[in-house]
Amino acid sequence: MNWKLPKALMRRMILPSCAASFTEFQLLKRLLANRNCKLVFRDLLAAVKADEKEVWESLCRLQEQGFVINCSPLVGISLEDPLPDILHPGELQILLERGDFHIRWKSEIFQVIGSTNDEVIKQAKRGAKEGLVVVSDRQLQGRGRQGRSWESFLPLGLYMTVLLRPKWLVANPQQLAILSSLSTAEALFQMGLKTVTIKWPNDIVVATKKLGGILIEIDRDEGGEWFAAIGIGINLNQQRIHFSESLQGKATSFYLETGKKVRRVELLIEILGRLDRNLQRSFGAIKSSWEKRIVLLNEKVTFEVNGQKIVGRMKGIDETGCLLIESANGSIQKIFSI
Ligand code: BTN
Repeated sequence: MNWKLPKALMRRMILPSCAASFTEFQLLKRLLANRNCKLVFRDLLAAVKADEKEVWESLCRLQEQGFVINCSPLVGISLEDPLPDILHPGELQILLERGDFHIRWKSEIFQVIGSTNDEVIKQAKRGAKEGLVVVSDRQLQGRGRQGRSWESFLPLGLYMTVLLRPKWLVANPQQLAILSSLSTAEALFQMGLKTVTIKWPNDIVVATKKLGGILIEIDRDEGGEWFAAIGIGINLNQQRIHFSESLQGKATSFYLETGKKVRRVELLIEILGRLDRNLQRSFGAIKSSWEKRIVLLNEKVTFEVNGQKIVGRMKGIDETGCLLIESANGSIQKIFSI
């Protein structure tokens, strides 16, 4: 069989900017599928269909990245715990293949990028399909809502953007903000952050500190079809010292809240799973789950929307996802987040 074509094709399809060779990718997949088991080198060689030198080079590269691989001529080769916090295309693909998803998620991993939102928007405009997920170790121009920047220079947080094209997007963009923040909060809760809450529109907070944020950008592609780039930034393994002075006291991380480190790839898969499932639910069901996690429900709040100050009691959201604020005279005002 001629392997040149499939290799090249695979590289273009599933190995974007992250520098992993085809052999390394296959090798990691095989090792992960047989975690903590001893594999016979000869079988491994046959399974990944590469020559001996290439396999050894790939094993060394995986070790350099932090994977603990025991190689013994007598006993065999095994991938041991703990797995490093690496965004590796081989592992991501195995996890995506294992999941029972409705959306065909297709991931692209970058080591450094300007902004994952920009990359998704660029590809979406050219017609990229729903389900594209761009994730990066670092962002040099991470963007937040309302023109703010998002600190993402260190590979200690999760920086990801998902491309969605729901049919109801133009009619109900607010619903996407609700669905995204709920999915993210649910994923963090599942990973062990029991104190996670949502602050309207889609801040992920613990008590008064911000742990994550979501930037949703909606646009049309070259064919005139609408799409949404959902950018999610989560502070995961940062300690206090990793936040800039301006964020000290305002930001927190999963690690600071729980004392536990999280592998980014595991949270990424959990978020995709939650988005996938929530997209199948009615908005009524999403709304009631979201209202259970929101802070300040039925409390007096002040918001500034387009330079206008809005004061009142937060009454939840309506069936389109707009926030409802009851003013002192009893009238209800609707606030849009997108
Ligand atoms: C906010 O202001 O709360 C939203 C922050 C969103 C940050 C994420 S990080 C991944 C994605 N890429 C970006 O440039 N921004 C979003």
